[in-house]
Amino acid sequence: MAAAAAKIAPSMLSSDFANLAAEAERMVRFGAEWLHMDIMDGHFVPNLTIGAPVIESLRKHTKAYLDCHLMVTNPLDYVDPLAKAGASGFTFHIEVAKEYWQELIRSIKSKGMRPGVALKPTTPVEEVFSLVEAEDPVELVLVMTVEPGFGGQKFMPEMMEKVRALRNKYPALDIEVDGGLGPSTIDAAASAGANCIVAGSSIFGATEPAEVINILRKSVEGAQQN
Ligand code: DX5
Ligand code: ZN
Repeated sequence: MAAAAAKIAPSMLSSDFANLAAEAERMVRFGAEWLHMDIMDGHFVPNLTIGAPVIESLRKHTKAYLDCHLMVTNPLDYVDPLAKAGASGFTFHIEVAKEYWQELIRSIKSKGMRPGVALKPTTPVEEVFSLVEAEDPVELVLVMTVEPGFGGQKFMPEMMEKVRALRNKYPALDIEVDGGLGPSTIDAAASAGANCIVAGSSIFGATEPAEVINILRKSVEGAQQN
């Protein structure tokens, strides 16, 4: 089975929000496949960022895949507004959706978005297996490699066990890692089997963001050849 293609997803949380369209354009020009959009409600996490109105504004300026990561308590409430706004991927957290993930996945798909599930560092990976194997499955699993809420935190290498378990079970699944990824941590994630790489501060804080994007992609592609 072909390996899941590498996707580098700059986290726009680390961009200049006042120049979001230009920041997005520059990331696409630098070779990013996806743009990672962190939607936080100030409740599921102690930070408040952006919502559907900002996605809608950005969508008018870019055709890029908008990889939305919902750090919110009520993801069901966001499906309609985000679909209308032009979101591409909709990744919710399993911790809040244990009772209704089937309904949520169906609703995300029916609105033309791609469903994904995220798990916090303390959540066991087994909790998402049934979502990948469901009749209406998620198409991406996001393994948090920091506590969700803020950019610029330290990568947790012990999360790579979860990535390895997922990759062993699901050779073609999109497995995303998020938090603390950059040139010094990418090899651990890539060799564990991650193919979708979110990176905020390491890309936006670099003098040559395009170089960082290339390093991340090369590491994923290199690991897949071994
Ligand atoms: C954290 C967010 C991340 C964050 C990553 O809750 O989900 O997407 O922006 O930022 P870095 O790459 O700086 O750790
Ligand atoms: Zn994120």
